[in-house]
This record gives sequence, structure tokens and C-alpha cells, in this order.
Amino acid sequence: MKILVTYYSETSNTEQVARAVYEGIDQPSKEIHPVDEVEHLEDFSLIFCGFPVHASSVPAKVEAFLKRVPKAKMLVLFATHGCLRGGHLADAAFENAMAIASGATVIGTFSCRGKVEPQLMDKLGRRPEHRAWVEEAHSAADHPDQGDLEECKAYARRIVAKALSRR
Ligand SMILES: Cc1cc2nc3c(=O)[nH]c(=O)nc-3n(C[C@H](O)[C@H](O)[C@H](O)COP(=O)(O)O)c2cc1C
Repeated sequence: MKILVTYYSETSNTEQVARAVYEGIDQPSKEIHPVDEVEHLEDFSLIFCGFPVHASSVPAKVEAFLKRVPKAKMLVLFATHGCLRGGHLADAAFENAMAIASGATVIGTFSCRGKVEPQLMDKLGRRPEHRAWVEEAHSAADHPDQGDLEECKAYARRIVAKALSRR
């Protein structure tokens, strides 16, 4: 089974998670590329797509990528975000991503926290639509940490086993 890990990352949080996911995949046929460097998707059976949550949704480049995912591919979405895990803000981003990639079969989602630059928190925290997550984001300063990366790696291993059992 050919597996693609692709990601978009501005300050390396999501890239670190993507690399942990890639390491966790114990299959010989795997590739890792930023979203805007992926050429052909047809050969891949399973695609991991990672992004930083932007305004409770996906960045434009990720939206463009998700629109290209052929129907019936297995897709795993992963994200980093400043807000706490399990909250509705991160969930909203996954829901938007799933709506954009509506032809694909999403077999899993996972996320972890990622630090936000202090200047950005100051700037965005003044806007009402960003206030809720910015307040939470201060405590994301040390993430992703080693524990997050190990968790992501283990998740990748489990979800690949799930994908293999579905074929
Ligand atoms: C323009 C912008 C909007 C953001 N919006 C959110 C948001 O709505 N919720 C959230 O939890 N984090 C938000 N963040 C924080 C990022 O999701 C977080 O810092 C992420 O880990 C960055 O990943 P990267 O280093 O891969 O770019 C935003 C960051 C930026 C730059």
C-alpha cells in the first residue's frame, strides 16, 4: 500500500508532527512532501494531510490540496492548533476539512497543540473572532513536545493497521 504524508506548516509545528507520522508508518512505500509539492495522487491508497488550524478552518493551500484528493481515497487529517485539545475550535477545522474533501473516506483525525508566536497572539487577540483560542494559546508554548510527537507516531502506526485491514 502506497502512503503519502503531506502537510502545510508556517512555523514548523505541523511539519514536526508530519515527520513523526512519517516515522510511525512501518510500510516500505511511503513519501512525505509539503502540500504544494505533491504532483500525482492516483498511486496513493492512504493520504495523511496535516495543517495548522487557521481561524477554525484550513489554510488556503490545504483547501486547494483537499479539493484535489480523488474520490474513494482513504484520508487521515491531522492538525496543530493553539487552543486546547478536544475543544470545539479544533473540531470545527476538521469538519470544514471533511466538507472540502467530501469525496474521500476520512478514516481518522488527530491533533495536538502548537505554539503561537507571541506577537501574533497580541495582534489576533484584539479581534473578537480570535479571542477565545488566543486566550487558551498561551499555554501551548512548549508544544508540540516529545510526548505529542510520540503520540502522533503511535497513532500513525495504528491507523495504518486499520487502513490495511479495510483493503
Ligand atoms: C493566521 C492564523 C490563524 C490561526 N487561527 C487559529 C485558530 O483559529 N485556532 C487555534 O487554535 N489556533 C490558531 N492558530 C495557531 C496555529 O494553528 C498554531 O500555532 C499551529 O501550531 C501553527 O502551525 P505551523 O507552525 O505548522 O504553521 C492560528 C495561527 C495563524 C498564523
